[in-house]
Amino acid sequence: MANKVVVSVASAVIVLGVVIGVCLLLANSGRSHHKTTPDSKTAELICKKVEYQVTCLDAVNKVAKNSSATPQDYIVAIIRATADELNKSLEKAAEAKKDLSSGQKQTKAELETCEKMIGYASDELKQVLKTIGEMKATTLSDQVDPILVWLTAVRSYQTTCVDEIQDENVKADMQEAMQTSNELTFNAQKIIYNVHNILKDIGVNLDEFKFPQLGNRKLLQEVKEIDRYGFPSWVPKTDRRLLQATPDNEAMFKTPTPPPVPENPTPDAVVAQDGSGKFNSIKQALDAYAPGPAGRYIIYIKAGTYNEGQIIVDKGQDNVYMYGDGKDKTIITGSLNFGIQKIGTSQTATVVAIGERFMAKGITFRNSIGPAGHQAVAFRSQSPRTVMMDCGFEGYQDTLYYHAHDQFYKNCAIYGTVDFIFGTGRAFIQDSDIFVQKPDANQANMVTADGRMKMEETGGVVLHNCRIQATEELAPVQASFKSYLGRPWKAASTAVILKCDIGDLIGPEGWMTWSSGEGANNHLTCMFREYGNTGPGSNQADRVTWAGYRPITNERDALDYTAATFVDGGSWLPQYGVPANLGL
Ligand SMILES: *[C@@H]1O[C@H](CO)[C@@H](O)[C@H](O)[C@H]1NC(C)=O
Ligand SMILES: *[C@@H]1O[C@H](CO)[C@@H](O)[C@H](O)[C@H]1NC(C)=O
Repeated sequence: MANKVVVSVASAVIVLGVVIGVCLLLANSGRSHHKTTPDSKTAELICKKVEYQVTCLDAVNKVAKNSSATPQDYIVAIIRATADELNKSLEKAAEAKKDLSSGQKQTKAELETCEKMIGYASDELKQVLKTIGEMKATTLSDQVDPILVWLTAVRSYQTTCVDEIQDENVKADMQEAMQTSNELTFNAQKIIYNVHNILKDIGVNLDEFKFPQLGNRKLLQEVKEIDRYGFPSWVPKTDRRLLQATPDNEAMFKTPTPPPVPENPTPDAVVAQDGSGKFNSIKQALDAYAPGPAGRYIIYIKAGTYNEGQIIVDKGQDNVYMYGDGKDKTIITGSLNFGIQKIGTSQTATVVAIGERFMAKGITFRNSIGPAGHQAVAFRSQSPRTVMMDCGFEGYQDTLYYHAHDQFYKNCAIYGTVDFIFGTGRAFIQDSDIFVQKPDANQANMVTADGRMKMEETGGVVLHNCRIQATEELAPVQASFKSYLGRPWKAASTAVILKCDIGDLIGPEGWMTWSSGEGANNHLTCMFREYGNTGPGSNQADRVTWAGYRPITNERDALDYTAATFVDGGSWLPQYGVPANLGL
């Protein structure tokens, strides 16, 4: 095993980036020629392209005085500064909580959510720091996309904190408290995204080396040719085997990649309402979390409707695999909601997945409150590399919340009305039934509402080979309601409808703007795309004509949105034993 790792790391490094190590060495030796005083030139070059330059320069100020600092030191300094700022915001939230009167229960709960979110952000920044710190410079190039996934998550948590505070004064206070950490996070995203060009700017001659462009998550996009294992054509066949055999791409994770779950796994915990299992409730089974020797904690949930209040697969509960007797038989339900109870959207989910690599199969996740509950989530995941197979997601507004990280959904049924597939992670939904329900009067249906904020962020949602249709309840009255493929929640909102069958419930304009406040211009900058769809709702003749919408007209461009490219599926889905179509 050890040998194999060495060989494969070596080959990966040769293919992908031994070069950068050499470059960093050169950069250092290069700098020593003119090691005079503070290296403000490097600082300026590193901060040149970011959106918040003053914040950036402040953060690297100390490193710039160190003439032997490496480019990595600069990146680390920015991420450290972000963590420090988040820590300050946490103190601010605690202070704000103290100032509340006993009647302000809702605001107190919102600030508690905020504290949790900042906690997640700090925690994930620590993972980024650890990875960058421990990483040989040679593998930085490999980690650009994962680091961006983590930094996008960090930004998402910060946004959730502020977005869910209703009290205008408290909201403004927290927004101000988090301003610098927000700026630093966006800066870090931009620097990582552009690391290739930045190194070049610093004077590293990258052209001397033959290797694919670094520092760009669109690495694969440049190549376009992706075989069925998801490897770009420049990766030699032998390296593919090694890359595939070795989980080399989960450096950001806390736990090693477990082997694929077998077809008929032996559960570590059985949950049954009739007493035939070790546990009567899912919560008890999670409380007894103890992964087996293969690293997974496998919970079998027998047929039944489980209504236990909110179920959280918490931080530290990694590699949980839950399976049921089928999505019509094993149902987890709840009714937390914003509309009536005023619970913040993120906290309404019936099931929340936080621990990494959460997987589920053959289970329905339901929020039963109905349209009057407004925001009422059935399933929210921030679990890195979530996989959901043969699952149901039932709700109305905000049913499925892909909050952060890469997520893959296969052969599922997703029900909802307003913005019902939404989030700020990167979700790939394949071979699934999308059921649009009958909304409240005066409501419209939006299948997606993606919250990607910046072009550097790894966010968006792809529906691939799905069927978009009205439920039996909506179908006879669908002419009374508008239904759309999506609307842009944030400025770089990304939604792609790929080879789907689109029913006649979707209006000819296809997409809708985000009409209120800050989002009023999002349709000019979003990325809404359609390719190869069929069905009466797929006619593009009368589609919206905004700058943010564009049909894809050729296969080469469509390849940017396959599971292999969009969520780098070739590097993890086969290892997890997930039957995914990585191509178009
Ligand atoms: C300067 O940077 C080098 C290289 O990372 C490091 O080893 C050294 O500790 C730094 N010096 C100071 C004073 O931070
Ligand atoms: C946050 O600040 C407190 C004190 O202000 C300190 O004890 C703690 O270690 C800090 N946490 C992090 C993650 O920096």
